[in-house]
Amino acid sequence: MISCGTFPATRMRRNRQTVWIRNLVQENRLHVSDLIWPIFVRDENFSPEIDSMPGVLRYTVDELPKVAEEAQRLGIPSLALFPCVDIKYKTVDGAEAWADDSLMVGALGKLNQARDRDKLGIIVDVALDPYTTYGHDGILNKKGYVDNDLTLEALERQAVTLAQAGADIIAPSDMMDGRVMILRNFLDVKGYADVGIMAYSAKFNSAFYAPFRNALGSEKSLKKATKCTYQMSFSNTDEAMREIELDIQEGADAIIIKPGMPYLDIVQRASQSYTIPIFSYQVSGEYSMIKYAAKHTSMDEKALVLESLLAFKRAGCAGIWSYFTPFVAKFLQE
Ligand code: PBG
Repeated sequence: MISCGTFPATRMRRNRQTVWIRNLVQENRLHVSDLIWPIFVRDENFSPEIDSMPGVLRYTVDELPKVAEEAQRLGIPSLALFPCVDIKYKTVDGAEAWADDSLMVGALGKLNQARDRDKLGIIVDVALDPYTTYGHDGILNKKGYVDNDLTLEALERQAVTLAQAGADIIAPSDMMDGRVMILRNFLDVKGYADVGIMAYSAKFNSAFYAPFRNALGSEKSLKKATKCTYQMSFSNTDEAMREIELDIQEGADAIIIKPGMPYLDIVQRASQSYTIPIFSYQVSGEYSMIKYAAKHTSMDEKALVLESLLAFKRAGCAGIWSYFTPFVAKFLQE
């Protein structure tokens, strides 16, 4: 329509006039089935409240059936478990990570009795940071360097212990080289071919993880040490694509890009380049920023949460890990 004489010929606002037309032209939607709910599991030495993450609780193993019931009632497809491990179980080799009587094994046992396996999945991280005295995701060698291949052996043991305890998906968050191939192979050989791997493929060395480390107590172990020899530099995009490509070749079933909001350019590029399901993690610092902003300014929490989560979908995420999951699930039911 070039010469009809009226101006403007194209009126974009026609498709915004009413609720029904806005719904009809809506390109991206957020649904509860897009969400993964990260849960902190504690023993009695940790308090339920987390100072840096208002509104998020640490749960005891005995409270987990209630959590599973709530997730199922709300239609949340999966929980992701993180252990708050007492200092007395931390060692230089992180051996509690593959102990048969660990907090995680107990948590998985309890949840597996309580859940409907067809409705609610359980994802567990594979990494040593909750278990090492120095808070790194891997094992230090004599030079004080996080040793890749030594760590892989520990991760294999951890992954098989978690698979045996009934995890559906393991999520290696350690950023060691070759771990997806090693873990896939080891799980297959041990009879766990059906256990999936959702790999944290592009995990950036980020200041946004601080409240999570506070929740786990790993910041005390880590002191001021940095994870920059294994987590990625936040300057790099091509490198993230190489990491993703390697994890796909090594047998990942899905990949994670992390953190979330400041890294949606990575999600968008990955979703244009690869057909594997892409997840992103709206991490603890992003959660806390929104909570504090809503508390101390006139910004509306519910609106901020819905807008931020929809941005993940727009960028190309199949799903989102978010601490807001139970809250959003309730809004979406309204
Ligand atoms: C550790 C791990 C971290 C997170 C998930 N797994 C923190 C880190 O790498 O130090 C961060 C999650 C969050 O900030 O919400 N392997």
